[in-house]
Amino acid sequence: MVRVLAAALMAVAFFQAGAMSADQDSEADRPKGARRRARERSLAAEMEAAIAKTGCADLGGDRWFSDAHGELFQVKQDKCSIAFQLKKRSGETYEKKGVVRGTKVLVEPPFPEGQLLPNQTVVFESGARWVRKW
Ligand SMILES: *[C@@H]1O[C@H](CO)[C@@H](O)[C@H](O)[C@H]1NC(C)=O
Repeated sequence: MVRVLAAALMAVAFFQAGAMSADQDSEADRPKGARRRARERSLAAEMEAAIAKTGCADLGGDRWFSDAHGELFQVKQDKCSIAFQLKKRSGETYEKKGVVRGTKVLVEPPFPEGQLLPNQTVVFESGARWVRKW
């Protein structure tokens, strides 16, 4: 009887230890998810504020994006006009110009129409994406 009780107590102790370590795991995950959601909220709010103020989202400033090939680049923005550098296959760079209207990114052709999402990823009709890095 004593042995059974000891085994039961040990089982309880094990169960609690397991529950505790499970708690620690979710503790570790929680701040990350919360931080990501907070960042998404602040990016979305920033975009809404820019559109309310100027009529267009802001892609310029200190932002860096990675293009469809994973190359980092910046967009120069003056009011709602944008300009950015593209690389030719030869490695030579040239400038492309466009405008931002609300969340739409319209670049001189040939270039697909883009749409800025609340998380600041620009998705083009071609499926290409510009992902905001920082
Ligand atoms: C932004 O949102 C789109 C659509 O919900 C998603 O496909 C994309 O992965 C997101 N980008 C980032 C960097 O979270």
